[in-house]
Amino acid sequence: MRIDYAQIAKTLAALTEGEDDPVALMATMVCELHHADDRFDWTGFYRVTGPEMLKIGPYQGSHGCLQIPFSRGVCGAAARSGEVQLVDDVHAFDGHIACANSTLSEIVLPVHDASGALIAVLDIDSDQPSAFGEADSAGLSRLLRQTFAR
Ligand code: SME
Repeated sequence: MRIDYAQIAKTLAALTEGEDDPVALMATMVCELHHADDRFDWTGFYRVTGPEMLKIGPYQGSHGCLQIPFSRGVCGAAARSGEVQLVDDVHAFDGHIACANSTLSEIVLPVHDASGALIAVLDIDSDQPSAFGEADSAGLSRLLRQTFAR
């Protein structure tokens, strides 16, 4: 099963119409994403809660670590740089935080609000190697903009 980003965009827009609470939006988006694609083994948000600090937000999958400083992991790299991180092989990524041994590849995207401030990162981990590509980066970036920067 592969995600249809155009379809999910419509579903999410309908489900979240009039909602502006970030955690409510994150929980709804994670649920829609996680069940839409076999590649998604862990799907969740880490929220910016203080200077250079990410804390776990809504997620689906086995339990994730509670805190990730900006200095650590793929999530930290996305938060630091403000750039999408596409990691084909997590074992080749220096500083990757292994929460599940089954994770082989991942994509992490920065999440900005309407003012352009970084509020979170979206982390999707896969138990398949090289699971994600530019189509996922573009599709997910669009969903994040539509949901959090409106
Ligand atoms: N993918 C992360 C950590 C895994 S989670 O806590 C689910 C990273 O290295 O940033």
